[in-house]
Amino acid sequence: MNATRNVIIDCDPGIDDSLALLLALKSPALNVIGITIVCGNVPTHIGAENALKILDLADRLDIPVYLGANRPLEVSYTSAQDTHGDDGLGNSQIPEVTAVRPIQDAVSFIVDTLTEAPTTSILALGPLTNIATVLQRDLQLFEQVEQFTLMGGSYRSHGNCSPVAEYNFWCDPDAAKVVFDLMPVPIQMVGLDVTRKIVLTPSLLTYIKDINPELGSFVEKITKFYFDFHWQYERVIGCVINDPLAAAAMIDPAILAGFESYTTVATTGVARGQSIVDDHDFWHTPANSEIMTDVDVPAFWRLFLTTVFGATEPDLTQVLNQLVTPCEK
Ligand code: BDR
Ligand code: CA
Repeated sequence: MNATRNVIIDCDPGIDDSLALLLALKSPALNVIGITIVCGNVPTHIGAENALKILDLADRLDIPVYLGANRPLEVSYTSAQDTHGDDGLGNSQIPEVTAVRPIQDAVSFIVDTLTEAPTTSILALGPLTNIATVLQRDLQLFEQVEQFTLMGGSYRSHGNCSPVAEYNFWCDPDAAKVVFDLMPVPIQMVGLDVTRKIVLTPSLLTYIKDINPELGSFVEKITKFYFDFHWQYERVIGCVINDPLAAAAMIDPAILAGFESYTTVATTGVARGQSIVDDHDFWHTPANSEIMTDVDVPAFWRLFLTTVFGATEPDLTQVLNQLVTPCEK
């Protein structure tokens, strides 16, 4: 495990972003110094309200939330409210936090933080508009970033917005391309190949509610809509939770494995948002990314269930032994 690392979380909460925030906030390996919001699953102002709701739940309203981009760099904005609900939290109608409000603006916060603390790590869980905007302003700011991990893209798995494109890259393909073209440190890409293996099943939810009724009922409330969506469109029983796996990658690097490659992103036409991984070195271009391909599913759940919900032995091992890994498609 890493020692505690300072991290900015750039996100679009979002049901799975919210679960990732809970994991990051509760992990002793991470010190979340700020949350920056980008338009993605929901418009930016709704995402910011949701981040505050999670901070309130975790009793961490001391962490600032910054408002970022309201639209992608070039293309028009398409939310994912069909997947996450109009409120981004599965239409759970959790009351807004009034004690603390979001702050302007995300880009200035990232610039100021990297100027003062250049080794700060970045965990990007939404479209990459905020990050690309900072890179375009001054890419040197990122030269000393300790770890840059993103949830997005897809190496060999099909997309979730088109046959080839994952949502975060599809929503702002130009920003994703800027990030892969300009980021001066390696990009750890946690894409759909690995996140699709992380399915919150009804059985796991039952266990979570049993060991932690307060957080468990919150998770049940926000994931019901997500469960229904997954059954209706993908015939998955439960829901895929993408973003917590990227947070887990930052907490415990042993959970994921992959390979180094040069990667870029298509921005237009039928391939819009496709991550193109040059795994055969056709372009003889130095690697700019580490593409994650393998995940230790029980290790992820062990981390998630102990850190967020306080799972303990011997029940935890008993539960993990009953995990059914989704079939490869
Ligand atoms: C990604 O898109 C969003 O819907 C999720 O929050 C996740 O970051 C998965 O494609
Ligand atoms: Ca997200």
